[in-house]
Amino acid sequence: MSFCVAIDGPAAAGKGTISKAVAAHFGFAHLDTGLLYRAVGAKVLLGMDPAMAASSLRPDDLAATDLRTPEVAQSASRVAVIPEVRAALVRFQQEFAAQDTGAVLDGRDIGTVICPDADVKLFVTASAEVRANRRFDELSAKGMAVTKAQVLADVKERDARDTDRAEAPLRPAKDAVLIDTSDLSIKDAVAAAIAAISKAQA
Ligand code: DC
Repeated sequence: MSFCVAIDGPAAAGKGTISKAVAAHFGFAHLDTGLLYRAVGAKVLLGMDPAMAASSLRPDDLAATDLRTPEVAQSASRVAVIPEVRAALVRFQQEFAAQDTGAVLDGRDIGTVICPDADVKLFVTASAEVRANRRFDELSAKGMAVTKAQVLADVKERDARDTDRAEAPLRPAKDAVLIDTSDLSIKDAVAAAIAAISKAQA
């Protein structure tokens, strides 16, 4: 029987870390749906048509090494407003969510559009400053030359575009459990997520 956990929230709120920990704890498969949009965004940066890039996406494209750059993130956020792009990615995500092992999907619209009947919905958030600092540390550790001010501006720009778009905007599902990670350690944020899921399983 399938069991689906939907984890949504803005950029760098901790969704990825929490999703991986939850997947490992419960033995669920994990899909970072941002990677789908990043893979499409990367193809568009190379000159491909967005709808074409989304409809021809293959699992191999998600393994491309250069999807975690700020340029690709911005391109992903831009292609994500296009209804044809979103529509082309729905089936893959819903099939992933229906796996017998149980699944955790993280993104922006999982609890609202992709899996509106998910067994558990979490909305993971944090202040823009905290998120930008985390993303800055991540990018700096990878040797990328970025400033905190640039990263904060980048995060805010993506937040605004992801939240204000007409199609599947970023917002908590009505029945989502909110986890604000601004003042939480990773351990405590993961524990809060595991507690919410365990409660739904009981
Ligand atoms: O989670 P991320 O930062 O890797 O996502 C990159 C962009 O992709 C994000 O700014 C908006 C888009 N996205 C989306 O629109 N819907 C999703 N389910 C996941 C990501």
